[in-house]
Amino acid sequence: MNKPSELPGLGQWHDHTHVPFQVYSDEAIYRRELDEYFYGPFWHPVALQAEIPNVNDYKSLYIGETPVIAVHSAEGEFSVMVNACAHRGVQLTAEFLGNAGGFTCPYHGWVFKNDGSLLSTIGEECFPDDYDPANYNLKNLRVETFCGIVFATFDPAAPSLDDFLGNLKPHMKVVVGGGERPLKLLGYQKITFNTNWKLFMDNDGYHAGILHAAFRLLDFAGGDGYLEADGHYGHWGMNYQSKDYEDNGYLNDPTVVESRSGEQTAAGACVRPVTQAVRHMDSINFRFARPMGPNKTEVHYTYFGFADDDPDLLNHRVRQGSNLLGPSGFISIEDSSIFDRSQKAMGYTGGQMHFLKGMGSNPDINRSSQNDESVSTVFWADYKTRMGF
Ligand code: FES
Ligand SMILES: [Fe+2]
Repeated sequence: MNKPSELPGLGQWHDHTHVPFQVYSDEAIYRRELDEYFYGPFWHPVALQAEIPNVNDYKSLYIGETPVIAVHSAEGEFSVMVNACAHRGVQLTAEFLGNAGGFTCPYHGWVFKNDGSLLSTIGEECFPDDYDPANYNLKNLRVETFCGIVFATFDPAAPSLDDFLGNLKPHMKVVVGGGERPLKLLGYQKITFNTNWKLFMDNDGYHAGILHAAFRLLDFAGGDGYLEADGHYGHWGMNYQSKDYEDNGYLNDPTVVESRSGEQTAAGACVRPVTQAVRHMDSINFRFARPMGPNKTEVHYTYFGFADDDPDLLNHRVRQGSNLLGPSGFISIEDSSIFDRSQKAMGYTGGQMHFLKGMGSNPDINRSSQNDESVSTVFWADYKTRMGF
């Protein structure tokens, strides 16, 4: 593989606040990002415990382009392993969610326990003499949890999850309601955007006032709040107080934006490389994403309530979550349009993305007001160094 410095045209990249369009669409850069960001020292939120609440529950997903299975392998313990048979690499399960004590390969019937260890094979009597079953367990990732969120990394040398999350921890804690009340999975909406994973992250969770007609119509634009970035990976967190909606006649049914839980503290956590977690009014929403090549990103919008919510509140959370912050919700549909339109328009024109708003008024790029562009540049500064540009 070419080193990035050998790729054409990168001599123009002098400053992390002006990002060459090329890094959003170049195939060789994308391949290198898979190694640095997805198979490197990043911890990936793979599931919330609420998605796999019982022993033997599992969820299959992708980290980068590699299929993995996240399993509740024993009471309070989680295993994450590559979803590929240790014999000849066949995908072990094609189910998204399930419950199983182990995984049987459809090809030659090898059986693996729910922690990835090999349980049995067929035809072992004619395997070579030096065959040792201990060499044929599934490839396990390192696993750690924070506030009921299961994280995994491919990198045995990655720093601890605690180090990785850094300043993001208090924001994530607010998103999941403090971590003491068990969450309940409400459902998923899945969508594929024709956009690069970094372009998705530049624009999701960041809300330009001009773009978001919904914020103005719903009078949501003026909430007090701040964004806080963390330099060593480029994460950022958001904290603000949401305001109650005052009926301005815009909605036929204003109950959709009612705040029934009484919880006004809202938070967002942008977990690099590619997850967004948000709590806004009564909606708790994780957007687990994965790259599918340089021009495509799949996102699973995953909705939660609390296990002790009454059924009316749970219904309300589903309705509010998907209508406001789902892929076609009042607010997020505007973001969705930007993902696709940016990727389409930048093409291979040799231009640059400019991050300017907030850069002049506030020299501290690690902390800014809600719709400034400056905290995004913390990621780009880290990216530039990490990728060797
Ligand atoms: S490939 Fe899985 S048992 Fe052969
Ligand atoms: Fe937005």
